[in-house]
Amino acid sequence: MFLKVSLYISLVIFLIALIYKVSTWFRYKIGIGSEEISTSARFFSAIKGILSTIFSTKILTLLKVFVLDVLLQFRILREDSLRWVMHIFIYGGFMLLLLMHALDKYITIAIWKNYYSTINPFMFLRDLFGAMVIVGVILAIYRRFILKVPRMFSNAMDIYAILIVAVIMLSGIFLEATKMVAYSDYKRMVDEYSGLSDSQELKSLEAYWVKEFGVVSPKLKGPFDEVILQKGKELHQSSCEGCHARPQWAFTGYGVAKIISPIGLGIDRARLPSVLWTIHILACFVSLAYLPFSKMFHIFASSISLLANGVIGKEKLSPANRATLQAMELDACTHCGTCSLRCSVIMAFEEITNMNIFPSEKIASIRTLASGRELSPREIRHIQEGVYLCTNCYRCTVVCPVGINLQDLWFNIRETLLQKGYPEFLVLSPLSFYRGLMKEETVQRDYENPLIQARGAIAAQCDLMKKKDKVLPLTPTNRKLQSGLSLSAQAKTFSVCFGCQTCTTVCPVVGNYENPQEVLGLLPHQIMHAAGLGLRDLAFGSNMLWDCLTCYQCQEQCPQGVCVTDVLYELKNLAVKQVREKTLQPMERK
Ligand code: HEC
Ligand code: SF4
Ligand code: SF4
Ligand code: SF4
Ligand code: SF4
Repeated sequence: MFLKVSLYISLVIFLIALIYKVSTWFRYKIGIGSEEISTSARFFSAIKGILSTIFSTKILTLLKVFVLDVLLQFRILREDSLRWVMHIFIYGGFMLLLLMHALDKYITIAIWKNYYSTINPFMFLRDLFGAMVIVGVILAIYRRFILKVPRMFSNAMDIYAILIVAVIMLSGIFLEATKMVAYSDYKRMVDEYSGLSDSQELKSLEAYWVKEFGVVSPKLKGPFDEVILQKGKELHQSSCEGCHARPQWAFTGYGVAKIISPIGLGIDRARLPSVLWTIHILACFVSLAYLPFSKMFHIFASSISLLANGVIGKEKLSPANRATLQAMELDACTHCGTCSLRCSVIMAFEEITNMNIFPSEKIASIRTLASGRELSPREIRHIQEGVYLCTNCYRCTVVCPVGINLQDLWFNIRETLLQKGYPEFLVLSPLSFYRGLMKEETVQRDYENPLIQARGAIAAQCDLMKKKDKVLPLTPTNRKLQSGLSLSAQAKTFSVCFGCQTCTTVCPVVGNYENPQEVLGLLPHQIMHAAGLGLRDLAFGSNMLWDCLTCYQCQEQCPQGVCVTDVLYELKNLAVKQVREKTLQPMERK
């Protein structure tokens, strides 16, 4: 009764949560272009996509991905063989236990008519699968906490996942062991199956079970007489053997039973088997009910992600399906850290200590963002900096064992966040090649937005700039500002500039425009001059500063040995630093 009720309750919770979770795949808006698509349009578009895949030759690819990547998890094997062993043990063992042991009433019995959990091969297999999971869990703990695989971060979800599996497994093994030693279980069985009443016979059978099966009897203790054991064996063979393989086959339970047998009577008196049974069952139900909210949900989401990305390949998805796929991929991430291990910009973390630089942590933040939770501008800025520091190198996408197209996700999120209007100064870096984003999918006006915003944010901080994106002409020297310009000795060489314009003449950026001053504001020689006059803010407002390619042509050609490029570089850094300090609190150090 208790069992049934709690099973139904957890099943209902599980189903509701599952439906809720899956619905978020169609509701969460990720990336530009997803805002206007309705949930129902996304749902039907997905159904259409699935059907057209199933009824085409792509079904073969789907099968291949299912066997190689979902079942055998080759993508994990390719990256890290220890992790593969760990994962296949936990996942394989757990699935087999679920099918053979937890669902035995529906599956195992349907296949083998005379199934009993106490006969072989079932008894041995149950312990084997259980041992696999335990070994896997030990490996998982070892990797996370002892080996400390670099760049793998453990959050509460990861620990919960390990914990719940460990509780289920350990309670199961201890349950098996305590039942083996518990005298009342033995007694119940004898009453039910032996049909014996003769006390001598009962004693023989008991002696045999104490010796061979590890039962702890309140009256009988070995060593026993050979004749009694022989008699016991015969009785066992006639009443019990059909349903009971030798207990050694259940090697984990039997091992524990041997260890706990000195306190066997106490265990039985305390009814420990039923306590453990309750813990075991409840742990299973709780994990079932909580599954859609936990990391374990990746069992579903990752499989779907692998299959979907397996058939999609390089194809272009409709905006509706892409939004759905990306929402699902957020659930598919197992927080395994492989992507962070391979990410090419991780060195930046040493300097900036923003966790969102790590792709594995970025995806966790994006999940929060997509769920619509209110984030502070500072949190959003951190995410933005993280996605913007990415170089689009594709390494994370290639190695992700669940096949998430991280690259696409970063593109999309970057685009969305930049359009929200938070200035991101990294777009001003020549290395950003202005944006390197999805030019073809963004409206021209929107595409320019982030750049204008970032420049504007810097210009707005400059006292002399009254208008954000206009550059003021040269103004008379402002001596007060001169002291504020703290440049390195190398950059201070601007003071010997005599205004020959060679730098400007050789600059390829200047040469690119018919009317360079209109576009760029101050030209290199003018910036040197402005710096000489102490007009720091004037220099900051110039587009030239941000459009410079750092090609060093000017610096090489300058007859006065002015380090033109270095000056531009330092001015740029000063400008960003100044705005950062005014508008943002320092980045968190985690
Ligand atoms: C019809 C099959 C069947 C027969 C016959 C049978 N048992 Fe069992 N026995 C089981 C099953 C199934 C379990 C495990 C489920 C449970 O505890 O009810 C079990 C459990 C036990 C346990 C608890 C330890 C454990 O491994 O779970 C003992 C002890 C036991 N049986 C003793 C006996 C003895 C002694 C006999 C012979 C008199 C006997 N059984 C005959 C099916 C049988
Ligand atoms: S694409 Fe970006 S996040 Fe991914 S590995 Fe490269 S730099 Fe890191
Ligand atoms: S994105 Fe992929 S590689 Fe990165 S943590 Fe998630 S599952 Fe692992
Ligand atoms: S080339 Fe040298 S001296 Fe001539 S304007 Fe440029 S910085 Fe000044
Ligand atoms: S370093 Fe910059 S300013 Fe100098 S020539 Fe190259 S692009 Fe022009």
